[in-house]
Amino acid sequence: MAEFQILKQGAIEHWTIDGEARRNALSRAVVAELEQHVRRVSGADRSVRAVVLTGAGDKAFCAGADLKERAGMAEPEVRSFLEQLRRTFRAIELSDCVFVAWVNGVAFGGGTELALCCDLRVIAPTAQMGLTEVKLGIIPGGGGTQRLPRLIGKGAAKELILTGRRVEAEEAVRLGLANRQGGLAEAHALAEAVVENAPIAVGAAKHAIDEGLALDLDAALALEQRKYELTIKTEDRLEGLKAFAQKRKPVFVGR
Ligand code: COA
Repeated sequence: MAEFQILKQGAIEHWTIDGEARRNALSRAVVAELEQHVRRVSGADRSVRAVVLTGAGDKAFCAGADLKERAGMAEPEVRSFLEQLRRTFRAIELSDCVFVAWVNGVAFGGGTELALCCDLRVIAPTAQMGLTEVKLGIIPGGGGTQRLPRLIGKGAAKELILTGRRVEAEEAVRLGLANRQGGLAEAHALAEAVVENAPIAVGAAKHAIDEGLALDLDAALALEQRKYELTIKTEDRLEGLKAFAQKRKPVFVGR
């Protein structure tokens, strides 16, 4: 059974976790299918430039790991599930595709971690986010302890992770955990604003930011230079200059 509803709108795909009855929890099947979709849009066919990721229904974006499935897993199965989860989340970051999470409802544990590995987050006014794992005797296992402090800083991340507190939409935006409040239209508009731009430039900028954050400033600036190089030889760079001179919108081709 398909775990996602997929809807293509031009260069943007909407992926909806189709598990409303279990609040879109991350079962093994959901993660396996997510990994396949991420590979599909990150491969040779670059027709999908941005993905808006959300959950079915209006209650949950994703309630984290599927705790019912987890209850029946032996320890090695838990480890292999986490390995696949980490690999899949990392593939989202490494993809040239831009991922916008529309956090349409609660996002707890792995649900927040899924949103964290996306490039941009729009949160519905009624939604909540939180890394609630310590309340279950575990720690975030899908990158939350590493991605949250990189996004919102160490102090705020420690407060949220060590207390397991849930935050409302307004606080999520104030902390920088979400970019803005809004509905699906806002999330789609953000994706549209990205795919208007030159594909190679967008991919290079995404990776310059993500990879550079792990480096000291000199190494990060050298990385920026290498990423800039990727754009210098492109037709799109020349098209950008020509369109500016001709006072028209550029038409980018991804070369
Ligand atoms: N895994 C598996 N099933 C889940 C789930 C999860 N993470 N979260 C919710 N569900 C299931 C519930 O068991 C329930 O199933 P049932 O109808 O068979 O009893 C169904 O989804 C609806 O859940 P319910 O709690 O009744 O809905 P709600 O809208 O009032 O609350 C949540 C939704 C997500 C706030 C609440 O279910 C919750 O706190 N879930 C646990 C989230 C969590 O701790 N995640 C971190 C994992 S590390």
